[in-house]
Amino acid sequence: MSHSFADTLSTSESIEQRVVELLGRMTLEEKIGQMAQLNVGDSYIHDYLADAVRGGHAGSVLNVVDVDVVNELQRMAVEESRLGIPLIVGRDVIHGFKTVMPIPLGQAATWNPDVVRRGARVAAREAASTGVNWTFAPMIDISRDPRWGRIAESLGEDPFLASALGVAMVEGFQGEDLTAHDTIAACAKHFVGYGAVESGRDYATTNIPENELRNIYLPPFRAAVDAGVSTLMTSFSDLDGVPATANEYLVRDVLRGEWGFDGFVVSDWDSVRQLQIHGLTASDRESALEAARAGVDMEMHGDAYVNHLAKLVADGELDPAIIDTAAGNILRTKFRLGLFEAPYTDPARFPPIANDEALAAAKAAALQSVVMLKNDHDTLPLSAERLASIAVIGPLADAPYEQLGTWIFDGDRELSVTPMHAIHSLVHDKVDVRYLRAMETSRSRNTKDFDEAVALAADSDAVLLFLGEESILSGEAHSRADISLPGAQAELVQRIRKTGRPVIAVILAGRPLTLTNIVDDVDAILYAWHPGTMGGPAIADLLFGIESPSGKLPATFPRMVGQVPIYYNQKNTGKPPSPETVVHIDDIDAHAPQLSLGMTAFHLDAGYTPLFAFGHGLSYATFNYENLAISTTELELGESLTISVDITNTSAIVADEVVQLYVRDLAGNVTRPVRELKGFRRVRLLPSQKLTVTFELHTDDLAFYGRRNRLMTEPGEFHAWLGGSSEAELGTAFRIVAGD
Ligand code: NOJ
Repeated sequence: MSHSFADTLSTSESIEQRVVELLGRMTLEEKIGQMAQLNVGDSYIHDYLADAVRGGHAGSVLNVVDVDVVNELQRMAVEESRLGIPLIVGRDVIHGFKTVMPIPLGQAATWNPDVVRRGARVAAREAASTGVNWTFAPMIDISRDPRWGRIAESLGEDPFLASALGVAMVEGFQGEDLTAHDTIAACAKHFVGYGAVESGRDYATTNIPENELRNIYLPPFRAAVDAGVSTLMTSFSDLDGVPATANEYLVRDVLRGEWGFDGFVVSDWDSVRQLQIHGLTASDRESALEAARAGVDMEMHGDAYVNHLAKLVADGELDPAIIDTAAGNILRTKFRLGLFEAPYTDPARFPPIANDEALAAAKAAALQSVVMLKNDHDTLPLSAERLASIAVIGPLADAPYEQLGTWIFDGDRELSVTPMHAIHSLVHDKVDVRYLRAMETSRSRNTKDFDEAVALAADSDAVLLFLGEESILSGEAHSRADISLPGAQAELVQRIRKTGRPVIAVILAGRPLTLTNIVDDVDAILYAWHPGTMGGPAIADLLFGIESPSGKLPATFPRMVGQVPIYYNQKNTGKPPSPETVVHIDDIDAHAPQLSLGMTAFHLDAGYTPLFAFGHGLSYATFNYENLAISTTELELGESLTISVDITNTSAIVADEVVQLYVRDLAGNVTRPVRELKGFRRVRLLPSQKLTVTFELHTDDLAFYGRRNRLMTEPGEFHAWLGGSSEAELGTAFRIVAGD
């Protein structure tokens, strides 16, 4: 049943009344209690926790997924604390609960908000059945640095894509009705700039000019707030010298002042007390003061707030109104979640974990997340009819835990179907499937099994190499400086190559890897990220052509790590490179060294192009883009135009394609990127089918932050391209005029 506007109004009015009324009955200590989040960690309630909940000294707990324990904690809060305020129960449900979806970066490669939303819906339902009512997701930090281990948790390098998919995740977790028993509050994190940590080293410092902050890093958060995200989490990192957890400008001025956010802000794990370690404060007391003043409403696992806020108020250093606002923000969120009406969880109301629907969602996401990076001579798809045998080799072919990826606290490895098992069950009646792990882990340098691997490959009709990184090589605190295939994997590839058999690399990894040293030694590459519970069946279907690959890269793949940061929406510079200006280090004439080598923005040893561009992804089908049409070549500020293209499937294969729209603003008040994604659509095309895909562009969609960080759309010349990657060539131009 849909609610009328009047209903909504009266609900929000009555929530505000209830917040005010409840705050009016609370002591200062009880308000501060709401601002504390305690770690449970175990499945029992220790005395400290029980006392805190009964005494009204905890507004939230995290890390408990035993429904009986959660219900007992809620009972203590509701029935034994003076005011009966229920707890908000947090957990990192990042890309699935028991049923695990691909890592978020893999989900981003689907370019499909529906699939992402559906995955979050499944995750919310499974988590809610244990009493969890708040997840610390989505992570919408823009990252241009694949060294950073947490790029795995992100939605990639592009603000437009990350905004669309972050919103889809929020919608999936929160559903249409936050009070429903199977929806949970989302948390957009980490506010803000965490993805820009120096050299990709986790927790390191960030320095982001405000213009870049506003044009690149803030938009996904703004989109999440506009979509009604319940909470935000501050970042561990410091931004231009001020740690995010004490950053009044970000939290109070931008988030609340400019954007009107009225949910609550939680710190990251102990990040209030870490303000002292950062060197911003000299004591926990000062840290509590700084964080509270900045507008951080809840302290995650730390005791700076409970130990110091009351005294800070009593000493006249902290305005008590700040405490009222923080507690009010938390209570408002609890009312919106319907926790006061329904604090308890009845697991009987939930469908079974990992039911058919959940597994189907996980498989759909995995299928669409896999990116085919290369496919020479149509090596793929494999034909079970034409192969007598295949060798399945590598440390990640049959690794149920590793395929789940990072941040899977509750992920059930027993549910994982590995590629090895899926391939076997798909084709074993026709094809002899032979398996050799060859390396204990991806990091292993031991090559003792390589002779056997080579013999197996030489004796098989095709070789599938399952390479990449185990889950522990990405995620929080798992950054790498060398992002090539670890261990002896490249050597394995090169030795297998010599057999002359068709070699297909299936790469499972938590980040874009540098593949330069193997790319020419394999015939095809499927980049599968960490694909989750149903990764195996999805990969098997793709390898044997039951479905065509359709994922597109959400992050640029560098040739070498020294190119990082490398991203598609870069600035042109005053000396843009071109193929004609690039000189390679090996081509410098030793006898007549040139004094000037091209004089443009490139690396002597890497050029300027990536190995694989943002948006790239091949298909078994072929698509023809033509008839780019634009509704007008001139429009006034405040108007819209439509831009469309005909796409034809020129193959005999049913396949999805992701049509992408890029725009360039040629002359700006500040320099503008060479291309910016402004639209995308996944379409499914039957053989020979032709579709017209149309995008609407309003001049507001072309707005950016200019000098003095003013949001503006400028009159002037724009270029636009439509196609299947950020390198799309089919283009047109239009002009915006000022109008009357
Ligand atoms: C630290 C991480 O940075 C954050 O993303 C996570 O949600 C919290 N720990 C809670 O586990």
